[in-house]
Amino acid sequence: MPCNCCEIENNTFTEGDAKANLRDYRCRGPANQTKLILEAVRSLGLKDASLLDVGGGIGTIHHELLKDVAREATHVDASSAYLKVATEEAKRLGHEAQVKFIHADFTDVAGELPQADVVTLDRVVCCYPNFRELLKAASSKSRKAIAFTYPREAWYIKTVMSMMNFFQRVRNDPFRVFLHPVSEMEALLNAEGLKKVSVKQLLIWEMALYRR
Ligand SMILES: C[S@@+](CC[C@H](N)C(=O)[O-])C[C@H]1O[C@@H](n2cnc3c(N)ncnc32)[C@H](O)[C@@H]1O
Repeated sequence: MPCNCCEIENNTFTEGDAKANLRDYRCRGPANQTKLILEAVRSLGLKDASLLDVGGGIGTIHHELLKDVAREATHVDASSAYLKVATEEAKRLGHEAQVKFIHADFTDVAGELPQADVVTLDRVVCCYPNFRELLKAASSKSRKAIAFTYPREAWYIKTVMSMMNFFQRVRNDPFRVFLHPVSEMEALLNAEGLKKVSVKQLLIWEMALYRR
């Protein structure tokens, strides 16, 4: 479905980026912040779970969780290039039939999607201006838990993100990065009936697991 978000993400997350990402994944496995999401989901002890991965990029989360935790996955992404690479990798791994790929701004299609046991968003809220709409839609689709990563509210992250947005403005590129307030994301998820049960931090990223 064509949308402004998809247009921006298509231009930002290109096929070249997706292929580089896939090379890294094949050589080194999941990125460190993604490992935190995988550990958090595995800590729930689920089997045959359904997974909804929003902004799943090259599909690392379902490539990994379909091995032991999940039976089926839905991958919604605003970047067609990332979805193409994710689909090809799912085919190569032999689990393409278990994944439904949807090219869309998740907030536009969430109402049409079924609920999933677990919803994941790895480095996605920081690409989207309206975190309330995004997290509200994600929580409405989560039967049991949400695990997501976002940049830490640290002075050095604020500085780097301000510089990134400054260069984006200069280049006339509409893509921006966002450092959404962690306390407001937590208040929103609490109001949706989800409670934070674990938080892990890396230098740049923080991962939070919420359970219903
Ligand atoms: C920084 S990339 C992260 C990709 C992957 N999750 C990872 O960590 O490697 C952000 C991804 O989120 C997607 N995205 C951002 N906002 C979205 C939205 N509202 N709906 C669907 N996908 C979105 C982008 O297209 C992109 O693939």
